[in-house]
Amino acid sequence: AKLSVRDALGAQNTSGERVKVQGWVRSVRSQKEVLFLHVNDGSSLESLQVVADSSLDSRELTFGSSVEVQGQLVKSPSKRQNVELKAENIKVIGNCDAKTFPIRYKERHPLEYLRQYPHLRCRTNILGSILRIRSEATAAIHSFFKDNGFVHIHTPIITSNDCEGAGELFQLEAAGKIKIPEENFFNVPAFLTVSGQLHLEVMSGAFTQVFTFGPTFRAENSQSRRHLAEFYMIEAEISFVDSLQDLMQVMEKLFKATTMMVLSNCPEDVKLCYKFIAPGQKDRLEHMLKNDFLIISYTEAVEILKRASQNFTFTPEWGIDLQTEHEKYLVKHCGSIPVFVINYPLALKPFYMRDNEDGPQHTVAAVDLLVPGVGELFGGGLREERYHFLEERLARSRLTEVYQWYLDLRRFGSVPHGGFGMGFERYLQCILGVDNIKDVIPFPRFPHSCLL
Ligand code: 4AD
Ligand code: MG
Repeated sequence: AKLSVRDALGAQNTSGERVKVQGWVRSVRSQKEVLFLHVNDGSSLESLQVVADSSLDSRELTFGSSVEVQGQLVKSPSKRQNVELKAENIKVIGNCDAKTFPIRYKERHPLEYLRQYPHLRCRTNILGSILRIRSEATAAIHSFFKDNGFVHIHTPIITSNDCEGAGELFQLEAAGKIKIPEENFFNVPAFLTVSGQLHLEVMSGAFTQVFTFGPTFRAENSQSRRHLAEFYMIEAEISFVDSLQDLMQVMEKLFKATTMMVLSNCPEDVKLCYKFIAPGQKDRLEHMLKNDFLIISYTEAVEILKRASQNFTFTPEWGIDLQTEHEKYLVKHCGSIPVFVINYPLALKPFYMRDNEDGPQHTVAAVDLLVPGVGELFGGGLREERYHFLEERLARSRLTEVYQWYLDLRRFGSVPHGGFGMGFERYLQCILGVDNIKDVIPFPRFPHSCLL
């Protein structure tokens, strides 16, 4: 039978069952009478120990080469593993010249070094673990929403709207051999989506609770450690919600439930991340999980920042957008527990945010969640569901014409509703303690870089 390394390692039958295992050589060690080989196929962090006769010609069995091993699964005499594969036949499928292979045997390459090799770095233990965790977290998020009665919606990638109104759009243009006379998407302006929110709002008007989880694009000219030009966003939209409290509860539950599932489904991979890239992260994460997230208003946040203004290059005052340095300070101030900041100035937020109709410091029912190590992880809020309020806001931004369909939603069976978006890469950074966002996505895209 053909087995994955993971299944071979977990095999119950070790009384010499004949199996075939395929993978890449992670180490070769030859002793007087035996040759030890470790084979990994990405199904687990752990490699399978293969034991062969030392008379075997091992010249081609180099680090990185691909192999197929046939043999018997037996109980291992060593304490380090339960099972090993007694090789009867080892076939080298693809050679690997260890001298020119950028990943070197037994070397713990820094993540910055590995970033140069997006086509090879997935063969290291550390990227293997991060990407397996990424896969597990994706599944955990889907099951969270399924368990809580949300309908999954595929929101479009090509869209005509700039949901966030921040002008960070990539516009589509015809290219390639077949010349299309029009300059854009068959004469209609079209962009890569910056958020699926507006499409989700449409769907929440039919399915009540919906979510989407897909690629999102921002033409932000930022080389920061937490921005990508293409990232994945989890977005949810819920109808019949009229308080930020209800929304924040879902956000906190999503963060905690997903994280618990990841920790229990890939403990070895998580342990490796903590050990190699973020010592102390285990405790920091436990601290986040066992405490209730905090809530402060934007106005309170600014007061806190003002009292510490000597710490900042960007002076905090009411009306400014919170900068990364401010977010980091606030999280520290809150004892490294994630903190919701609510009720932002109306002038800072997009047209869809619900008006709080408050004093001279005019705010909207927006909420951001700030987390240790990353800063802003979620953005969301209540949507303006009142026709006349929305109409006026759209008119002021000269968006009335493009958003007739959006106004329709308020004309035909409008309900109080709200939602949020969580950056998936920032989420992984937060739970694993990964400093640079480029290390938690298989193929990072950022200004001036589109390797592969
Ligand atoms: O705060 P943002 O812009 O919110 C929205 O797009 C809302 N329409 C979401 C909603 O309510 N449905 O983005 C949401 C999150 C941010 O908090 C951040 O975690 C992540 O998306 N994000 C990025 N992640 C990586 N690279 C970028 N350039 C990002 N921009 C936003
Ligand atoms: Mg935001």
